[in-house]
Amino acid sequence: MTENNTNTTTAQVLTGAPLAGRVAVVTGASSGIGEATAERLAELGASVALIARREGRLKELEGRIVAAGGRAVAIPTDVTDRAAMDAARERVGRELGTVDLVFANAGVQLISEIVDLEVDDWDAQIDLNIKGVMNTIRAWVRDLEASAAEGKPADLVVTSSIAATRVLEKFQVYSGTKAYITQLVRLLRTELGRKNVRVSSVAPGMVDTELPDHVTDADASRLMADLIEQIDVLQSADVAETVAFLAAVPAHVNLTEITILPTAQAI
Ligand SMILES: NC(=O)c1ccc[n+]([C@@H]2O[C@H](COP(=O)([O-])OP(=O)(O)OC[C@H]3O[C@@H](n4cnc5c(N)ncnc54)[C@H](OP(=O)(O)O)[C@@H]3O)[C@@H](O)[C@H]2O)c1
Repeated sequence: MTENNTNTTTAQVLTGAPLAGRVAVVTGASSGIGEATAERLAELGASVALIARREGRLKELEGRIVAAGGRAVAIPTDVTDRAAMDAARERVGRELGTVDLVFANAGVQLISEIVDLEVDDWDAQIDLNIKGVMNTIRAWVRDLEASAAEGKPADLVVTSSIAATRVLEKFQVYSGTKAYITQLVRLLRTELGRKNVRVSSVAPGMVDTELPDHVTDADASRLMADLIEQIDVLQSADVAETVAFLAAVPAHVNLTEITILPTAQAI
């Protein structure tokens, strides 16, 4: 992530407290898109459970939210660990109540040629980007159903990527995991939509976060670094505002598939 891009206020469009009374869970809340979204949801009135592995980062965010008058609870959890997610679900219910907004966002991008047989990287992406999302859904889909049954808004928002639909060299496994997410959301709507649970996928282009820091392939790293250098890429706050907007519109309105590109990102 570049040094000068920590402004989380530039994207703000919503005002007031349109999410007052909402109870949100954000995975991947320790950095990037998840961190910005958790903070923004809290600013707009939601109580927010913060989920990721880095406890220190979550605690800092919790402190910032509480200092600003919001409500948040840091729950360090590995979303690939189903038993740990059971414990997180139990804690969220006890401390914040029934969840009505889930942002399943934790993800990792590891780029390589398929013939390099980086099987650990394949597994890491499938375990987090697919199974981690399924574990998140498993933990809170009943809460969403219950909230909607009580006439409250209920949202499941999952972070996909433009990689879900574009052909990017060496992105095979990552793209495959995101294609799964995009199609999963379409299918979930057929079941959850009629129960008044909104389901959305958000597919960003280049966002300046820690995501490329994990990429070991030199070409892919250069591609991302060049894009960040050359164009005005998205900031996490831009995605955060979009997620907040999805949750703030009237309950009968489901913005289902949102692609967010930097205006100047041509590919
Ligand atoms: N940045 C982009 O250009 C871009 C574009 C399209 C889509 N996306 C998607 O956006 C999402 C967020 O990524 P980001 O760009 O904000 O990158 P990031 O800053 O690297 O954030 C990734 C988050 O996932 C968390 N995470 C990783 N492994 C985890 C695990 N096992 N359990 C729980 N949390 C875990 C990380 O926290 P811990 O390490 O503390 O666990 C971190 O909070 C991802 O799904 C990514 O694929 C990003």
